[in-house]
Amino acid sequence: MKRFVPLLRELWIPLLVATAFVTASFYQQELIVRLGIVTAAQIRHIFPYILGVGIWISLAYLLNRLLVVVFWNPLNRRVPVPRLLRDVTALLIYGMAVTGIVGVVFDKPIGPFWAASGAGAIVIGLALRNVILDMFIGLAVNFDRPFEIGDYILLAGGPSGRVLELNWRTTRLVTSDGHLVVVPNGKFGEMIVTNYSRPDPTCEYELSVFLDFDVPPDRALRVLNAAVRSVVGKAGILEEPSPKARIRGIALQGVEYKIKYVQDPRQAGPSGEPDDPLKAPSKAQHEVWKAVLDQMNRAGFQPATPRQDVFHAQRPQRQLLTHSLEDRVALLARVELFQDLNVEERTQLSAQMRELLFKEGDAVIEIGAEGDSMFVLCEGLLDVRIVLQEGQSENSVAKLQAGMFFGEMSALTGEPRSALVVAATDALVFEITKTQIAALIRNRPELAEKIAEVVTERKLRNSQAVAKASLSTTMVKKKSLTAQLMSKMLSFFGLKAEPATKRIGNAEGNLSLSTETA
Ligand code: CMP
Repeated sequence: MKRFVPLLRELWIPLLVATAFVTASFYQQELIVRLGIVTAAQIRHIFPYILGVGIWISLAYLLNRLLVVVFWNPLNRRVPVPRLLRDVTALLIYGMAVTGIVGVVFDKPIGPFWAASGAGAIVIGLALRNVILDMFIGLAVNFDRPFEIGDYILLAGGPSGRVLELNWRTTRLVTSDGHLVVVPNGKFGEMIVTNYSRPDPTCEYELSVFLDFDVPPDRALRVLNAAVRSVVGKAGILEEPSPKARIRGIALQGVEYKIKYVQDPRQAGPSGEPDDPLKAPSKAQHEVWKAVLDQMNRAGFQPATPRQDVFHAQRPQRQLLTHSLEDRVALLARVELFQDLNVEERTQLSAQMRELLFKEGDAVIEIGAEGDSMFVLCEGLLDVRIVLQEGQSENSVAKLQAGMFFGEMSALTGEPRSALVVAATDALVFEITKTQIAALIRNRPELAEKIAEVVTERKLRNSQAVAKASLSTTMVKKKSLTAQLMSKMLSFFGLKAEPATKRIGNAEGNLSLSTETA
């Protein structure tokens, strides 16, 4: 009941007026008699109209007051409601009352009236659509209350600041730079708003500091924890939850430590009073960094900086030089035959061998020549040719590539050179004399075995090539003998072979014969 007393105090006049008119309309006839207007025909005639108009107007008045008292006034306490908005609603209410008077009291058609006012409303609505949108979203924001005056908010993709004022069309923010930002309320209908002051105005912050790997973690944590705890109470940094330092991870730069603390901007002012939430975080950060640098300085270590370790070492050789003894030793290590020799043996051999350069097409070894040295091909490609058939020139049987040796057959057996070796490209070879190779074999008999294996393989391949060549010669000879015999037999029987073009050969090369008719 108590709740209705203030309401009644505000509304008693319009309520009284409306009740009076409604009651009068119920006792109309009696009133006419009592007021002595029975004889005054004109007044008696208009009396119901006066009552009707009075009822509509007083009800509109009551409704408007009710709206003001129940809706606009409480809203106005939170946000100043524009006079325009209140006037527009009042106009609507009285407009409805007027149409009620025209339609009900005077019994006149109200269709054209509404049609005209509807068209007018559309025109006004289109012209003021942004203003209307701002107004309604502003109202929704006031009812929904996602933020209030004094809250620190961030608009997605927009500015952040403290809410200074909320009015019917715009919201005003002050940024940390002290600028005033005016946001039309319509924007809040489509924008994500982060409110840093809700649900809890305290905020947790983290800072990272890198220290060198050689700073013991226990020592680092001791210093950093001491630093962050020493600023509790300054710039709104809270004691609980307690600030602390932890290891976050390891990076190229060093070990990453994180320093965590919670701040309440309401206590961030100089003597514990609320501070601007926009400025408070940077003030707290400043205090923490100052303490961290100071403590680290006293402890004698510095933040790690990006760095590179440079080691001084001999530059790796990019190219081996054939005339340098050292490089020859390295090159010999890449020849399969000499792989098992030790460095001394290879060095000795390298010092003795002779370097020879051949142009493409040059004969490195002549077939049948005397030879008392063998060779190692260092660079280039060689073609090995032997005589496959008597009386014919040499044919290619193999190719020699870098790292292979040759000329060993004559050098180790004393036989004349078994093949012609021609440079297929420009080539660089090392010559090793019979005496040098003999000295090596004396120390390393396994070398002789290796060479013997290669020689056997090469000889086998050569004899196979020769055999193949003589087989094909035999086949050719056989064919020609057969042809000769055939021709003898045909002439003996008085037959004649068809000209070559008319012959029909099958897959085996058999001939078909045509008989000569007499
Ligand atoms: P030598 O007979 O002294 O001179 C010619 C060289 O050609 C011979 O030694 C072998 O080193 C080499 N040679 C002969 N036949 C072949 C082959 N089939 N494959 C590789 N090299 C061969």
